[in-house]
Amino acid sequence: MEETKLQHEEEVTRRSLLKTACIAGAGAAVLISGLKGKAEASGGTYPQIKISNVKDLKPGKTVKFDYPLVGRKNILMNLGCSVEEGVGADKSVVAYSMFCTHLGCGVELDKESGLLVCECHQTVYDPKHNGRVIEGPAPCSLPMISLEVDKSGDIYAVGVAGLIYGLRNNLLDGEGVK
Ligand code: FES
Repeated sequence: MEETKLQHEEEVTRRSLLKTACIAGAGAAVLISGLKGKAEASGGTYPQIKISNVKDLKPGKTVKFDYPLVGRKNILMNLGCSVEEGVGADKSVVAYSMFCTHLGCGVELDKESGLLVCECHQTVYDPKHNGRVIEGPAPCSLPMISLEVDKSGDIYAVGVAGLIYGLRNNLLDGEGVK
């Protein structure tokens, strides 16, 4: 009984430390100047990379892309409804890191529920609400990729809000995408 209480207290402490680390990490790594213009991070400026065009991204469609480093997969999706931080005419397009904030396993879109689910310990993230954790052990939201759409409908990644799992710096810990 005593051991169980101790384990519980250790788990609470571990989770609150991780939450603090998430907040501190995101603050240190990202400095988004609104979502317009170039986003900055400690160590440099995020590249502006074309991912898709709104014409090719119908509701329910997804596109996977590396950003801001090679091998750092993200998922772009049209949620089919207006959401906070969404871009495009309907404010329905968003993108997130596919690295779970718990231990870095892959996160995939569950087409039935429209939620992002981790393959390892089943943390569930809500892409309609800034990638926040709905259930599971992950300590913080999925990092959100900042997007911009130009007049022709081209969608660009221009920054990252949050520290990507496994990195100490979103820009410096690997080879940048071009
Ligand atoms: S690595 Fe995703 S929930 Fe554990």
